[in-house]
Amino acid sequence: MPFINWNETLDLGIAIIDREHREFAKAVNDLHLRAKDAADTAELKGHMKGLLASIEAHFATEERFFAEYGYPDAEAHAKLHRDLENQLTDLIDKLSRDQLPFTDTVLTFVKDWFLTHTTGSDLVYTLWMRNHGFIHPATKDLIPRAKR
Ligand SMILES: [Fe+2]
Ligand SMILES: [Fe+2]
Repeated sequence: MPFINWNETLDLGIAIIDREHREFAKAVNDLHLRAKDAADTAELKGHMKGLLASIEAHFATEERFFAEYGYPDAEAHAKLHRDLENQLTDLIDKLSRDQLPFTDTVLTFVKDWFLTHTTGSDLVYTLWMRNHGFIHPATKDLIPRAKR
């Protein structure tokens, strides 16, 4: 079984967001596999940086939608994003200074955060978007605010 066992029950029903969540789960799974054979921390640190960049890009997508659609809890949600970015930056820093062994613990932290956030806060904004008619029921694409 993959490290993060992503399946359709975890999809939120917004096409672009589900695609990005799946890509992130895949990136974590790939890293989990690689971490088993990677000999040196420098290589793993590089992969962790790549992971951080992809999650930052995903957070930017969500926050762009919050601004575009006027999501009322945008600030609190964005704070959760910043907290994870800071925690990950700190982990990568500790890894590179050899203060932390690269173990499953690092990826388990990422996995737990990701699953909790996606099925919690991300689900909440998805429901808000759906209740406001911003999601096309058939295509799961976002409907531009002005056209709703
Ligand atoms: Fe998300
Ligand atoms: Fe989020």
